[in-house]
Amino acid sequence: MKSINFLSMTLFNTSVSVDIDKAIEWLTKGECVAIPTETVYGLAANAYHPEAIAKIFEIKQRPKFDPLIVHTDSIDKLHSIVTDIPERAMRLANKFWPGPLTLLLPKSDRISDLITSGLETVAVRIPNHPMTLALLSKLDFPIAAPSANPFGYISPTSPNHVLKQLKGKIPMILNGGNCMVGIESTIIGFQDDEPVIYRLGGLPLEAIEQCVGKLKVMPFSSSQPKSPGMLASHYAPRKKLYFHDLSSCLNNFLPLEVGVIAFDKFNPSFPEENQILLSPEGNLLEAAAQLFSSMRNLDESKLKAIYAESFPQYSLGLAINDRLSRASVREQ
Ligand code: TXA
Ligand code: MG
Repeated sequence: MKSINFLSMTLFNTSVSVDIDKAIEWLTKGECVAIPTETVYGLAANAYHPEAIAKIFEIKQRPKFDPLIVHTDSIDKLHSIVTDIPERAMRLANKFWPGPLTLLLPKSDRISDLITSGLETVAVRIPNHPMTLALLSKLDFPIAAPSANPFGYISPTSPNHVLKQLKGKIPMILNGGNCMVGIESTIIGFQDDEPVIYRLGGLPLEAIEQCVGKLKVMPFSSSQPKSPGMLASHYAPRKKLYFHDLSSCLNNFLPLEVGVIAFDKFNPSFPEENQILLSPEGNLLEAAAQLFSSMRNLDESKLKAIYAESFPQYSLGLAINDRLSRASVREQ
């Protein structure tokens, strides 16, 4: 899917730097800057600057029906972004912010329809990265930031991932090292005041349920998704990825042509040298942090296809399986 080209793109000499003041300068001028968060790198712009927001869509080739997350650094500042914070949203915010949680709340007039794709709710979060929190504390506007990857591709978890795909398109990548969580935030909205998970993510389901009780997890669908992160085909590498479907994989490829993403043990059907163990110690947090860079490494390797095992169905294993499952589906 392509967005309409209505802006002339400037070609930049993209710098990778730790200079927070320089990032502020670019953002204030209405340019986009890649910023580190604990989940994935974001492609940030001034949320109150319509042209800057339009540049995000242009750079990512993102369809306009896909709304953006607004980032801020304090619950105080949230009051100019949203009009209401239900009791359970406040409980989640107090417990998990800064952290890998995004809340869908009724938007204030300051938030444009371009950010929310015309929805009445806006996605907001306080990310947990010291550099980005320092950046946000010095800004007098919030920043809108989707993941800093071309639409539909794997989210970046290092400055180098961003550079490979957005070099020349943005003036600067704020270098905050590798993302510690490595998988996008968990998105929670409210239906008749009941919390609902719109996207599984970096916050384990069990931790959320401990805070607000059992909650519904929306299934993903490819038609009219409420959240395009819910599209059946998303987060995908370019190579064919088989998720937990060994027979299809081996019907189409020889074992030595396939790169494998496994949890803590090698899969006996493939040569060990082509396998990545996301966490030899069996730690799902570590596995999540390694997932996207491993998918990229295999996508860039000489191997012809990727086989991914399914992960345990709890904690971050749920979000890992969600991403692998969507990465394995191809739009016709
Ligand atoms: O961890 C993250 O959430 C990262 C970092 C950069 O903060 N951001 C991120 O943004 O993953 P993005 O744009 O790649 O994914 C945001 C998802 C999209 O699937 C979008 O459809 C959904 O959030 N979203 C945004 N606003 C929404 C709304 N008002 N209602 C439903 N879904 C919404
Ligand atoms: Mg994304």
